[in-house]
Amino acid sequence: MSKQWWKEAVVYEIYCKSFCDSDGDGIGDLKGIMSKLPVLKDLGINCIWFAPIYTSPQVDNGYDVADYRNIDPAYGTIDDFKTLLDMAHSMDIRVIMDMVLNHSSDEHEWFKESRKSKDNPYRDYYIWQPPKNGKAPNNWGSYFREGNGSAWEYDAQTGEYYLHQYAVKMPDLNWECEALRKEIYAMLHWWLDLGVDGFRLDVFTRLKKTEGFPDTTKQPGPLDRNGFIVDTSMCTNVKGIHEIIHGLHTEVFGPRGCMTVGEGANVDDTNVLDYILPEREELNMVYHFQLAHRALLSMTPAHFRNVQTKWANVFAKGGWTVQYMSNHDSARQVSCYGDAENYREASAMLLATLLHTTPGTPFVYQGEEIGMVNVTYDSIDDYNCCYTKGDYHSMIQKGSSRKEAIKALAPRSRDNARTPYQWDDTENAGFTSGKPWIKTNPTYKEINLQADLNAENSIFKYYKEVIALRKTHPAIIEGELQFLLSEHPHAIVYLRKCEAETLLVIANYRSEATTVELPDEIKTQKWQRILSNYKNTQPSIDGRKEWMPWEAEVYVLA
Ligand code: GLC
Repeated sequence: MSKQWWKEAVVYEIYCKSFCDSDGDGIGDLKGIMSKLPVLKDLGINCIWFAPIYTSPQVDNGYDVADYRNIDPAYGTIDDFKTLLDMAHSMDIRVIMDMVLNHSSDEHEWFKESRKSKDNPYRDYYIWQPPKNGKAPNNWGSYFREGNGSAWEYDAQTGEYYLHQYAVKMPDLNWECEALRKEIYAMLHWWLDLGVDGFRLDVFTRLKKTEGFPDTTKQPGPLDRNGFIVDTSMCTNVKGIHEIIHGLHTEVFGPRGCMTVGEGANVDDTNVLDYILPEREELNMVYHFQLAHRALLSMTPAHFRNVQTKWANVFAKGGWTVQYMSNHDSARQVSCYGDAENYREASAMLLATLLHTTPGTPFVYQGEEIGMVNVTYDSIDDYNCCYTKGDYHSMIQKGSSRKEAIKALAPRSRDNARTPYQWDDTENAGFTSGKPWIKTNPTYKEINLQADLNAENSIFKYYKEVIALRKTHPAIIEGELQFLLSEHPHAIVYLRKCEAETLLVIANYRSEATTVELPDEIKTQKWQRILSNYKNTQPSIDGRKEWMPWEAEVYVLA
């Protein structure tokens, strides 16, 4: 396996808006992040991914970029960013930027020009179509299901529609336009010149649209309305997408040797290699949605094994991926895939064990390392996420009551991940001295970093341990994955083997004790326990058959 820093890294995603507010305006900012870098250093992560911090009207919290070369004034200035970058680098923490290349904000200068007239030099930077029979050019629905649900918005100024797969205020960029491509290449070089180490590419599979913009023949889904249908296949992995990504590699990623990770909307183990095999010259890795997804609210050992086994084949062929169960687009992983009510700590630690000992680069999402949990607000007005709001209005239109709609949407809402970071048990969790832009999760009195630092054993301290293992155990990075007891309903057991060592991971994936008999060839070998989330148990390998609820252990073959 070739050595690359991003294979050895642990990446930490910062959602600036909710991380730490230094000036009391209720919005997290770069100075706030600077003040917390020592915490991240202590945690042991060595790369930060900043969700978009560019100038933005914040319709989608920064994924609607109005200026790709500037920092949103609510977060700070470009000089603050440079200081932050230097500070991170001096701590051996690399920095990657989130690049939103599928769309911009309608408040971007390019779009302001583009909409002015059909012959404006920027017209082709976006995707414009004339009306069809006086209506939208086709029946494509927008992911955010705003307005009437269409992915097209009529612009009276020139009498044409523009495409927006996401919010109305997020027009899709036109990658068929050579001038647009050049602008993007130059902008990426500009960030690399500033010193950033790589990029996370937002919804990169959607840059190419089906030629001719035909109607979809897909049947409407439950949330589609007014005849507008969300059909990912119209604009995702469309023929020609590889030429675009390869172009980015040839012009920027390759010559600069920067790290790239793509958000793999509709990418799975069957189609990923074309994006990530080194000889394809596209991206280093892509993260997928097969293991965890906003719509997936629980997990089983069978699902975990099944997905990891599929991806083991991807690794065997020379690919690489990310291990994660949550990020800024999902609910909290301990609420979905652990038992936040009864075994929050043990289950959060178990999930961490799985994610940090299976093949791939672990991505930690802020708050995960202290076991932050989901939130439920009573009113839709307290929610901020465009998906949640759009889906809510669809449900109401289709006859659900307000209460039913919230009940259905709350466990999936992206806002679960976006409540302020819980630093301590003071007002607003120590996130701000002002009024937070989104309501703090009331759990902060018990769940907060300070409590974890004070406790002898805590989720944060466990994360430190599991992250540290990556630095001393090569099998975590390069070891082959082999599941044992692969039919077991509750136990997740696997080996990671490389030339230098063999590791054994054992996990009881449920809220009850489980009696397990390990295979003889394992029991007869000599293992040393190097990590455990129950500090007072004897190593189970020594003959203890009952595994505690959500118990997780890691062993090395002596
Ligand atoms: C990606 C981002 C998400 C955003 C969307 C549109 O999925 O992760 O937060 O809303 O793209 O940019």
